[in-house]
Amino acid sequence: MSKISVLFVCLGNICRSPTAHAVFQSMVDSEGLSQHILVDSAGTGDWHLGHAPDQRTTAVAAQRGYDMSELRSRLVEIEDFDQFDYIVAMDNENLTNLEVMRPANYQGQLGLFLDYSQQIEQTEVPDPYYGGDNGFALVLDLVEEASAGLLAHIRSQSSWTTSL
Ligand code: 4NP
Repeated sequence: MSKISVLFVCLGNICRSPTAHAVFQSMVDSEGLSQHILVDSAGTGDWHLGHAPDQRTTAVAAQRGYDMSELRSRLVEIEDFDQFDYIVAMDNENLTNLEVMRPANYQGQLGLFLDYSQQIEQTEVPDPYYGGDNGFALVLDLVEEASAGLLAHIRSQSSWTTSL
């Protein structure tokens, strides 16, 4: 059975999308779904290729028990549209960049991460890079909430969920 695959995308792939990658992977693992769901992240900008996540990001994530030590920044590639069922953008700028790249025959779901949350009214995960520490904690709050919504959505769409 093929896995459902999810790619989180932000600008630098060192703050928001690796946070989503780590949080969603942790949720998938703790719910015993790692054989069913593949998780990855990427950026639309190339300033930090190969770099580990930002230290401010890893610090707030570690406080809540998320390990990001294996993650490294990479660019979104056109092949990702062949690979991923869900391509999930952190903000409208990322989404616009992805829509420009999107092949006409892409059959997956391309959209905003926060649209998977029923609880959050804002639509974008704000870029924390040039702001203070509060911004990084807010990213984590939004990501935890939206991850729960995305996982519930995937469960509702997937035939394997009924057998679990
Ligand atoms: P991210 O944050 O898109 O959440 O990874 C940023 C990281 C780096 C830059 C901008 C945003 N930058 O301009 O280098």
